[in-house]
Amino acid sequence: MPSSPPQPTHNIPSKNQLRKPTCRLLLISMSAFLLLSLLSLALFFTLSSSHRHHLQQDPLQNTSQIRLACHSTRFPQPCESSLTLPPNPTSLQIILSAISVSSHNLKTGQSMVKSILETSKGNLNRTNAASICDEILSNSDYRINSTVDALSRGKIKDARAWMSAALCYQYDCWGALKYANDTQLVNQTMAFLDSLTQHTSNALSMMAAYDNYGNNINSWAPPKTERDGFYEKGLGGTELVFDGGFPTGLKPDVTVCKDGSGGCYKMVQEAVNAAPDNAEAGRRFVIEIKEGVYEETVRVPLAKKNVVFLGEGMGKTVITGSLNVGQPGMTTYESATVGVIGDGFMASGLTIKNTAGPDAHQAVAFRSDSDLSVIENCEFLGNQDTLYAHSLRQFYNKCQIQGNVDFIFGNSAAVFQECEILVVPRQLNPGKGETNAITAHGRTDPAQSTGLIFHNCSLNGTDDYTKYYYSNPKVHKNFLGRPWKEYSRTVYINCVMGDLISPQGWLPWSGDFALKTLFYGEYQNSGPGSNMSARVPWSSPIPGQNVYTYSVQNFIQGDQWIPTKA
Ligand SMILES: *[C@@H]1O[C@H](CO)[C@@H](O)[C@H](O)[C@H]1NC(C)=O
Ligand SMILES: *[C@@H]1O[C@H](CO)[C@@H](O)[C@H](O)[C@H]1NC(C)=O
Ligand SMILES: *[C@@H]1O[C@H](CO)[C@@H](O)[C@H](O)[C@H]1NC(C)=O
Ligand SMILES: *[C@@H]1O[C@H](CO)[C@@H](O)[C@H](O)[C@H]1NC(C)=O
Ligand SMILES: *[C@@H]1O[C@H](CO)[C@@H](O)[C@H](O)[C@H]1NC(C)=O
Ligand SMILES: *[C@@H]1O[C@H](CO)[C@@H](O)[C@H](O)[C@H]1NC(C)=O
Ligand SMILES: *[C@@H]1O[C@H](CO)[C@@H](O)[C@H](O)[C@H]1NC(C)=O
Ligand SMILES: *[C@@H]1O[C@H](CO)[C@@H](O)[C@H](O)[C@H]1NC(C)=O
Repeated sequence: MPSSPPQPTHNIPSKNQLRKPTCRLLLISMSAFLLLSLLSLALFFTLSSSHRHHLQQDPLQNTSQIRLACHSTRFPQPCESSLTLPPNPTSLQIILSAISVSSHNLKTGQSMVKSILETSKGNLNRTNAASICDEILSNSDYRINSTVDALSRGKIKDARAWMSAALCYQYDCWGALKYANDTQLVNQTMAFLDSLTQHTSNALSMMAAYDNYGNNINSWAPPKTERDGFYEKGLGGTELVFDGGFPTGLKPDVTVCKDGSGGCYKMVQEAVNAAPDNAEAGRRFVIEIKEGVYEETVRVPLAKKNVVFLGEGMGKTVITGSLNVGQPGMTTYESATVGVIGDGFMASGLTIKNTAGPDAHQAVAFRSDSDLSVIENCEFLGNQDTLYAHSLRQFYNKCQIQGNVDFIFGNSAAVFQECEILVVPRQLNPGKGETNAITAHGRTDPAQSTGLIFHNCSLNGTDDYTKYYYSNPKVHKNFLGRPWKEYSRTVYINCVMGDLISPQGWLPWSGDFALKTLFYGEYQNSGPGSNMSARVPWSSPIPGQNVYTYSVQNFIQGDQWIPTKA
């Protein structure tokens, strides 16, 4: 994504209409004014020093506050020209002002996307791209609103998680339009989204600075990563893994079964539709799914919170589909057999598959944007892009995940604990050899609190794959991950790595893209694939004193929301 400031555009609501009414010109005249005032102040000082208190009330005081706060962002120029502050603002007021700039601009982005939708009838690619944009920008709006709420309650970790997601959706809208950029309006919308993501990034950077350095904006600095030697401290704790997960003893609210007997729903989606919208906090809606193969596409929308899928076991309760990007107008996002947005989603005891054919490319089995989501004893089967952990905080416990190309990917903060990760053969010419990456984390901004974290997992091939592998190990290459986006972050801790993992460990995406900014960390892994002596120089051993940055408690605040085992 280009990060240069967008050109001024015409025919669309101009940014100045939408941002608070400040602009570069005003700043210039203000700095001239500042100079003048400084001169007169100097004069004033020589005459009397008893008026010092009066100086604190100078309305220009806030411009230096703005400059200090914007210094902690990646795009200080749009930051400085967009903030509006009361005199002597608190750090929180500054952050709220940055959020409100992002929120105002988002509204424009949303209406531009609606215009694309209205003018794209009959154009499948553009209609699909704009519909996805429409959906995810409204999710972005929802997350920004929640961020403001979290800040007012002092919940800085929630605020950072939600603003990280808000930014993820704006970027993804840009990314969706990239494949349908064949009109002036799309081009203009992309340029606008580019500036929007800068404003959102700025608000997020300030939150990270506030969290890491505290209230005093003099101490704020731009976001740093582990590659700069910076590890976030978190809340402490000395347990890496978490003794909790899917709760026991849940009583089903409804049941799904194949024959639809005795009041059962026949389709999983019908049961999801029966869940109440915006149920009160803490209220779960438990859907028992009896053994059987359910061939359907399932969507759990934003309003359906705390939905629980309770299956009868992996391989017994199976939800299957075959959507894939080889189909006209299909996107990776929409290809998911099961796609979940509503927060607090939980699942246990089921298999979710995408069985798209050999030429299918991207074909997602499970996509999740559910914050505070717990998945246990579930199996995810596919080839390329099996598990799309798209955004927000997700906990996978004792799951099995199969695939070959980038099969765990997205921009979430997801922890995989005691999971079994298995490479499957490519469907075309499986013996010929191939290059696979287990993960492709998609963090676009260093202030996003996202990453893929593996604790106590095992990495191996399926029996089928292992046969091909051992018949000619040289041609079958498997890597721990590759950087889908610039700030990709993936960490393996206490995992057992089979010999199918190549000694270099990690794979570039394209040339040297992201190699200086990503963070790929390893800590006390074992097994033949874990030998770090030949690793690429851009991966890192994690220092022992920093490993708790990636605990379930610190990384996804799991102690606050994952049910503990009684
Ligand atoms: C600074 O505060 C004054 C009120 O004292 C306000 O009128 C002005 O717009 C603020 N300036 C900026 C750049 O926020
Ligand atoms: C739609 O997108 C597909 C895949 O990117 C492309 O092959 C096709 O030509 C596009 N169709 C139109 C009408 O642009
Ligand atoms: C977010 O808040 C704004 C202003 O209060 C409101 O107009 C909008 O509908 C809210 N959006 C969502 C998705 O709740
Ligand atoms: C697309 O937008 C960019 C940035 O606004 C602009 O420089 C360029 O001229 C536009 N291209 C077309 C073909 O409209
Ligand atoms: C969109 O397409 C226009 C015209 O082909 C091109 O000039 C512009 O660079 C494209 N925009 C992006 C962001 O790819
Ligand atoms: C995780 O792995 C470490 C190191 O092998 C081990 O000490 C710990 O007991 C394991 N924890 C769980 C929950 O399996
Ligand atoms: C990987 O699987 C093979 C064959 O099933 C088995 O022999 C080997 O021990 C496994 N390795 C690890 C690290 O689990
Ligand atoms: C790691 O690999 C190197 C050679 O690449 C070898 O010399 C070393 O003994 C290996 N370490 C372990 C613990 O197997």
